[in-house]
Amino acid sequence: MAIDAPATRPANPRFSSGPCAKIPTFELAKLADASLGRSHRAAVGKAKLKAAIDGTREILGIPDDYRIGIVPASDTGAVEMALWSMLGARGVEMLAWESFGAGWVTDVVKQLKLDNATVKTAEYGEIVDLSSVDFAHDVVFTWNGTTSGVRVPNGDWIADDRDGLTICDATSAAFAQDLPWPKLDVTTFSWQKVLGGEAAHGMLILSPRAVERLESYTPPWPLPKIFRMTKGGKLNEGIFVGETINTPSMLAVEDYLVSLDWARSVGGLKGLIARADANTKAVVDFVETHDWIDVLPRDPATMSNTSVCLKFTDPRIKDGAGFAKAVAKRLEGEGVAYDIGAYRDAPPGLRIWCGGTVETANVQALMPWIEWAFEAEIAAQS
Ligand SMILES: Cc1ncc(COP(=O)(O)O)c(C=O)c1O
Repeated sequence: MAIDAPATRPANPRFSSGPCAKIPTFELAKLADASLGRSHRAAVGKAKLKAAIDGTREILGIPDDYRIGIVPASDTGAVEMALWSMLGARGVEMLAWESFGAGWVTDVVKQLKLDNATVKTAEYGEIVDLSSVDFAHDVVFTWNGTTSGVRVPNGDWIADDRDGLTICDATSAAFAQDLPWPKLDVTTFSWQKVLGGEAAHGMLILSPRAVERLESYTPPWPLPKIFRMTKGGKLNEGIFVGETINTPSMLAVEDYLVSLDWARSVGGLKGLIARADANTKAVVDFVETHDWIDVLPRDPATMSNTSVCLKFTDPRIKDGAGFAKAVAKRLEGEGVAYDIGAYRDAPPGLRIWCGGTVETANVQALMPWIEWAFEAEIAAQS
């Protein structure tokens, strides 16, 4: 039975999983101090790039002996730089449980054509058997699977005395989940995700062991200039103090600096995690009191607090994919939720971004609208 539209609308309908909602205090005027029209190699530009690196270290609690670089091509650029530069030295285990992890498998198996790759996959909503991972190999995995809403529960499964490297795509986890740095050799993320920054640049974080790999191993394939992190067998240290390989967007850099300031103002990483957890709880509380909708992850321990994926479970639904799309479209049409349809490769449903830039009041306000759209679509079916 169709129900009346709720009285309250989310003040901000932006629940996209990337680019994600900008910080709640965002306005373009905040970028007025950007060093535009100047060389990124001028002192002012270099200082801003270095501040982006230093602020990242401070808020994410990254150890002093880890390198942090700003690299081209967003998170994808950072991950592929690592795969192309480091893999092939030993066997590799590829762990994938959703679309982006599967993309890294394609890179390694079909593009790099590594013959010593073991691929471990799980269906959407599930996770691979982490206890089966052999850390004599390099291990490539996605900390938080953005398209299934499934994340690793923690880093306990990663061996401290591993011989291989861990290469972790943490783009939808960094700034929302605790990342145990001693367990991670290569970590990547993009500004466009949890802090609601701009795309284009990726962050590449290297442990001392990852640097050792770069300096002791040269892959047999050619490396384009934008992937090259060494010169004459030595790490190009400049990259890790803000001397980017090619020209960055100083507007995007300024925006990231503003986002980092906001992150400090909400209590840093702890504050950001608490905000994401509160947003996720608002969704889970709703799901638990409505029997026609459920979360996609099977095990609550692996449920994301950023990309929260939902599925409709009502037996009256005739065409699952069409139904979910229609609900998302109806919500978008009302201007109460943008971009919350499930990812194109994922099972039909909704995906609500719950990272810290989203206000909990907006998530709470959205929930009755989902019920409204659901009932309207059920009624429209008959
Ligand atoms: C887990 C994961 N990896 C990689 C990407 C690609 O990120 P980008 O477009 O910033 O390169 C995304 C984007 O949503 C993602 O969620």
